[in-house]
Amino acid sequence: TNGAASSHRLRHVSSLAAPPPSRLNAVVLGDALVSEENDLVIPNPDFSAQAHVPSPAKYLDMYKRSIEDPAGFWSDIASHFYWKQKWDSPVYSENMDVSKGRINIEWFKGGITNICYNCLDANIAAGNGEKIAIYWEGNELGADATLTYNQLLHKVCQLANYLKDIGVKKGDAVVIYLPMLMELPIAMLACARIGAVHSVVFAGFSSESLSQRIVDCKPKVVLTCNAVKRGPKVIHLKDIVDVALADSAKNGTVVDVCLTYANESALTKESTKWVEGRDIWWQDILSKYPNSCDVEWVDAEDPLFLLYTSGSTGKPKGVLHTTGGYMVYTATTFKYAFDYKPSDIYWCTADCGWITGHSYVTYGPMLNGATVVVFEGAPNYPDSGRCWDIVDKYKVSIFYTAPTLFVTRYSRKSLRVLGSVGEPINPSAWRWFFNVVGDSRCPISDTWWQTETGGFLVLGLRNRVPLPSHFLGSSLKNLLVQPVIVDEKGAELEGECSGYLCVKSSWPGAFRTLHGDHERYETTYFSAFPGYYFSGDGCRRDKDGYHWLTGRVDDVINVSGHRIGTAEVESALVSHPQCSEAAVVGVEHEVKGQGIYAFVTLVEGVPYSDDLRKSLIMTVRKQIGAFAAPDKIHWAPGLPKTRSGKIMRRILRKIASRQLDELGDTSTLAEPGVVDQLIALADS
Ligand code: PRX
Repeated sequence: TNGAASSHRLRHVSSLAAPPPSRLNAVVLGDALVSEENDLVIPNPDFSAQAHVPSPAKYLDMYKRSIEDPAGFWSDIASHFYWKQKWDSPVYSENMDVSKGRINIEWFKGGITNICYNCLDANIAAGNGEKIAIYWEGNELGADATLTYNQLLHKVCQLANYLKDIGVKKGDAVVIYLPMLMELPIAMLACARIGAVHSVVFAGFSSESLSQRIVDCKPKVVLTCNAVKRGPKVIHLKDIVDVALADSAKNGTVVDVCLTYANESALTKESTKWVEGRDIWWQDILSKYPNSCDVEWVDAEDPLFLLYTSGSTGKPKGVLHTTGGYMVYTATTFKYAFDYKPSDIYWCTADCGWITGHSYVTYGPMLNGATVVVFEGAPNYPDSGRCWDIVDKYKVSIFYTAPTLFVTRYSRKSLRVLGSVGEPINPSAWRWFFNVVGDSRCPISDTWWQTETGGFLVLGLRNRVPLPSHFLGSSLKNLLVQPVIVDEKGAELEGECSGYLCVKSSWPGAFRTLHGDHERYETTYFSAFPGYYFSGDGCRRDKDGYHWLTGRVDDVINVSGHRIGTAEVESALVSHPQCSEAAVVGVEHEVKGQGIYAFVTLVEGVPYSDDLRKSLIMTVRKQIGAFAAPDKIHWAPGLPKTRSGKIMRRILRKIASRQLDELGDTSTLAEPGVVDQLIALADS
């Protein structure tokens, strides 16, 4: 059913224009890099000389082989990893066409390996045991810690041994609800070591969201901490877990153990509420376990993790990634996209609660034996220079972040590669990220990808290849897969075009199913355009083959890099006793990229008030999390609907962004008058 609903609610992409080229003239980049006569951004020769991919020709060779001979290309790369036993032939099998049967993507099937072994033991065996794996930077200035690869392995093994001891076995789910302490990557790796399936829930989610995920995946144990400080605020995570576990039990899922890390900088043990018999202090128990632990060898296609993400309907989707393909894909994309070298210090500002933290804080970098900065705090605490202080403190050379975090303007000498993710970079942001932060030296890797794709699919290659400067902004080239743009009917478009972004054939990092709902997987991603994986994004391709992402075409919005389904916010709003109907759309937001704009119809007779606005917003915070709180509540005596009752979101988007002269044809509405009522209430 949701397949029909989501395709029904697809937005037309033809109207979504890329930034007009006229805004991009007269770009002045660093002297060395821009020849102003021909307005070209040319690669920094020093960078090219040392890069893994030193020239556009080399990139094209690699790309061509990945498309023409994916089996050969990926198996050559995979052979550099540790496999207990090699995979069967064929290297992969896929069917991306629902009309031909079940969608069943597999890579390296029959290959026996372990991703934790490849992250830790293999790097230690290669002589990197004393290399720093994690530089941890706490919320408070001066709070920091480090772990070498040897030390990290010991911590991972202690936790792995404990989990085995309480009965966690291969294939069992473990829910991790932790902030960015070192214990978060430790917990992920410990699960992977014993073949357990981790499901990290971002520690900004509410108890209701957490409980919903617990009931869906039924973990044996929840790993959390008592509290965390984020900026000046203390958040009592354990209280949230207590409520979630009580709710889960009411819904039939009883979790026996809640392993709680005592984060005493935020809250003392004594002040932590405790459920005897269920709750265990992490530090007390783990020190009793040995610091070595045998690896559970798993099939390449055994599940590695579940990560819930928002879709077009209210229920979050449990995106499932498996072991072998994900391992090979994240490690490889990390290495090439960021030109990673063993001497680099790498910092990705994402939280491990999202896919970026899975693939590019934990697995991708650690598979490469990288030194990773893990930051617990908020980027603007104690002040907005914090990120740059961290870059200086650890001599960060690769800095990967979201455009919404491009906040303060300093250059940092240690940087050599910049990365961006989550939303299109607008040309002026690109220019200053490049010129100012990167001191006109550092290439920017703008990475387009999704929870579902496991790793990067298309990448900004500006200043890797010579380019006219009007390509600044989010213009991306294929990485190692074949993205295609299709029209409404699913016909592939050639050359300059705009349409829906799809992928034509399988890549190792692709997700394999939605937990417990393979049918939803097939209808959501493979039915709209049979034969293709459909991303949900609109895209324009220019005459030079560059992709310009134009945003989601379904009812998903991206707020500061957090993916939120409008349906989730709507169902939270209508659960409020005084709300009878709600429609949520995304609007452009200066800081967050997109903001959440909610049209709310109240139960008859209930008067509008600011208190009610606050209480509606509180309801969303409570049910989903603070990051999903609407930025604006717009009172709506009625919503614009078609005669068949479908809400016309196109019109709501125009009202929300105050493009009132672009409302288009409203004559097909069941009650055209509601539009004027909405406009009249716009600023009340
Ligand atoms: O709309 C695209 C946007 O983020 C969506 C994926 O969200 P999520 O699964 O939460 O993963 C976010 C981090 C990978 C996409 O459908 N998006 C992601 N990267 C970019 C982007 N939009 C434009 N440019 C990007 N680089």
